[in-house]
Amino acid sequence: MTNRSWRTRYGFYFLAVGSAFGLGNLWRFPYVVGENGGGAFVLLYIFLALTLGLPMLIAEMMLGRLTRQSVVMATRKVSLTSGKDFKFLSALPVILSLVVLSYYSVISGWVLHFIMQFVLSLFGSTQIGSSSMVLLLKNGGLQFGLASVHLLITLIVVVKGVQNGLEKWIGWTMPFFAFLVVFLIWKSTSLSTTDDVLRFLFYPDFSKLTLFSLNHAVGHVLFTLSVGFGTMVTFGSYVREDQHVPTAGLRVSLFDSIVSLGSLFIIFPLVFKASNRTITDPALMFDVLPQFFIEMKGGLLFGLAFFVCLYLAALNASMGLLETVVSNILDIFNKKINRNQAGWATGALALLLTLLPSLSGSFFREARLGEKGLIELIDSILINGFLPLVALGLSYIFFKGVSLKDKERLFVDKERFVSYSMFPQWIFALRWFAPSIIILGWLLHLFGLLKIIWQND
Ligand code: ALA
Repeated sequence: MTNRSWRTRYGFYFLAVGSAFGLGNLWRFPYVVGENGGGAFVLLYIFLALTLGLPMLIAEMMLGRLTRQSVVMATRKVSLTSGKDFKFLSALPVILSLVVLSYYSVISGWVLHFIMQFVLSLFGSTQIGSSSMVLLLKNGGLQFGLASVHLLITLIVVVKGVQNGLEKWIGWTMPFFAFLVVFLIWKSTSLSTTDDVLRFLFYPDFSKLTLFSLNHAVGHVLFTLSVGFGTMVTFGSYVREDQHVPTAGLRVSLFDSIVSLGSLFIIFPLVFKASNRTITDPALMFDVLPQFFIEMKGGLLFGLAFFVCLYLAALNASMGLLETVVSNILDIFNKKINRNQAGWATGALALLLTLLPSLSGSFFREARLGEKGLIELIDSILINGFLPLVALGLSYIFFKGVSLKDKERLFVDKERFVSYSMFPQWIFALRWFAPSIIILGWLLHLFGLLKIIWQND
């Protein structure tokens, strides 16, 4: 087996799921659901995860599997074979991964902060108060320091390589992570708020959807499945010869969606119990939950388990983002630079970029748009604005650059009825459905913004 492959067939699943399941599921999904009114948005999300996220995920993985390269070189390869020039699009996913990694590291740093607070509280040497998050947000230096620690931990694993770093790490931590998720769902749903949560999440009130909701759902589906970053091209390039890409894609997206829904049952019962608001902004969860944990019986351990689970999710997803950039550098420089050099250079660049989000609550606290602070703006611009367009570009490269014969060869496996019967639907989704929904979501969003501007005039 070459080095460009997972050690085991499970390596791929663990890493793809680990990379997909991140802060997006536990931290972002609840507040996006809260912002968009609950049940109807959850339905929209499930629908789009299967009809838009899954086909695009398979396309990205297949681009990697076919070319055995990360996204930049994969694009060059299909540009050469198809005679079409896509090179201008190829670097965008990598740049997006790097920029997202930087603000992701700041949020991961918040999580590290609360882990430390809970550990210290367990030993009685500090008190977590309702002001913990407010104080943290005001302290740009501390946020930068915590983000650096997070990047360092991520880097240490990534520079060890795919088989010895990423695959081993995920293999060790995944069972513990899965245990924490199940434990937290059990603990949260034993609170008395489950009925309210069920009503909020599964009683769809379509009047609560806004002009922004479609775009928010598209952005979130892509973000949570790590589609549009080139991550799945990289992971696809490591897929073993004997693995069937569409089946792998289906399993990854089903697992990610199930755990995403599960995570709503961790967060919402807690939030409903702790406050009478739903979460509608990125910092609220960190505001509300720590205070709630310290007031409940056995809450320090429950809180610690919650933040450790959140951190593992954040770390695994960060590794996926960092690996995307590193693997691209390695492919572009083709052995003229080693993994260590590529890793540290990327880490340094990401660290520099964390300065802006780290200082969002201090130096840049005036940089707001209405209710949204800088972190929320960065998140919204990147995930609702750029990500859908970049993902669309990637899907276009795949669709136009790879011949129908190659698509069919890798998709259709006569042994698997699902793959055989789903081929035309997959092609339809990539050719018509995904572009129409992404463009419609964007236009509605734009229209919503213009409407707000007109109303304020
Ligand atoms: N897919 C990753 C997440 O959901 C980026 O956090």
